[in-house]
Amino acid sequence: MTADPSIVIRQLRREFRIRGGRGRPATQVTALHGIDLEIPHGSVYGLLGPNGAGKTTLTRILATLLVPTSGSAHVLGLDVQRDLRAVRKTVAVVFGGDSGLYDRLSARDNLRYFAELYGIPPRVARPRAAELLEQFRLSDVADRPVEGFSRGMRQRLHLARGLLHDPRVVLLDEPTNGIDPVGARELRQVISGLRDAGKTILLTTHYMFEAEELCDTITVMNKGRIVATGTAKELRAAATLAGWPSSRCAASAMNSLRKSSSCRPCVPWTSRTASSCRSCVCTSGVATTRRRTGRSAR
Ligand SMILES: Nc1ncnc2c1ncn2[C@@H]1O[C@H](COP(=O)(O)OP(=O)(O)OP(=O)(O)O)[C@@H](O)[C@H]1O
Ligand SMILES: [Mg+2]
Repeated sequence: MTADPSIVIRQLRREFRIRGGRGRPATQVTALHGIDLEIPHGSVYGLLGPNGAGKTTLTRILATLLVPTSGSAHVLGLDVQRDLRAVRKTVAVVFGGDSGLYDRLSARDNLRYFAELYGIPPRVARPRAAELLEQFRLSDVADRPVEGFSRGMRQRLHLARGLLHDPRVVLLDEPTNGIDPVGARELRQVISGLRDAGKTILLTTHYMFEAEELCDTITVMNKGRIVATGTAKELRAAATLAGWPSSRCAASAMNSLRKSSSCRPCVPWTSRTASSCRSCVCTSGVATTRRRTGRSAR
C-alpha cells in the first residue's frame, strides 16, 4: 500500500427532494450528512449498515452517477464532479440485480458488446472477454444466452463486465445480495482475488460476517452518518468495551458502538439479538441461523 489513499471523501452531503403530490408539501431526505472517509490503495474497504444508511448513495457519487449536494470526493486524485470521464475510466461499479445485461445475448457477446461501448478495440476485447469468463468460472456457459443464467452467474458476469476496462478501483454494492450460500462464497473468493491483483475495492453490505471475512477496514454507517470505523477486530473490541457480550450478535455490537459514540439514535436493525437474527449479519448470528433453520447461512 502507498501512503496516498485511493479514495478521499470530505464533508460529503447529499439531499433528496421528494415531491409531495395531492396537495402535500415536498419533503427533503438527507442521505449523507457530511461524510469524511479515506480508503487506502489495494485494500478491501467495507461499508456496513442497515437499509437507508446511505451506502448506495455514496457508491453512486463515487461512480459519478450522482452529484453531491456539497463536499467533495476524489478517486486516485480525480474529482468525481470535474474529472467525470477520467474517473469513469478508473472505476468499475457493480450494482448487480437483473438489469444491465442483455438477456438474449450470450455471456461472451455481452462482454464484447460492453467492451465496444468502453471503446476497447475488438482484438483486445476478444481475449480480455475470454480471460474474464475464465476468471469468473463462466467459460462453460460463455455461449449460452444470459436469460437462462442463475442470479449468481449473472452477478459474476456483472463483475466481469465491470472489469473489462481494467479499472483500478472497484465499487461493489451488495454484490452477494440474493445469491445462494455457495454462489456467495464463490463471489467472495473472486473479490479476494481482486484485492490480490492490487485493486482497491469498496464493498457495501448488510452482513457483518461478510465484511469481517473480506474487508481490511470497515466503516459502519447509519442514517447517513458514520458510526464507527476500524478493523473487524477493533470494532468487536470496541463493542465489547461498550458492554456487548461476546455471545450477542454483531448488530448488537453496532448498537453498543452507537451508544458509545456521538451519533444519532439507531434503527431496529441494530437491536436484534442472535436468536432473532435470521438474515443479517454476524458470526454468532450465522451459527444460530444454521441451527434454527437447518440451512447454512451466507
Ligand atoms: N433517488 C432518491 N430519491 C429520494 N430519496 C432517496 C433516493 N435515493 C436514496 N434516497 C434516500 O436516501 C437514503 C439513503 O438511501 P441509500 O439507498 O443510499 O441507502 P442504503 O444504505 O444503500 O440502503 P439499502 O441497504 O436499503 O440499499 C434513504 O433514506 C433513501 O430513501
Ligand atoms: Mg443500497
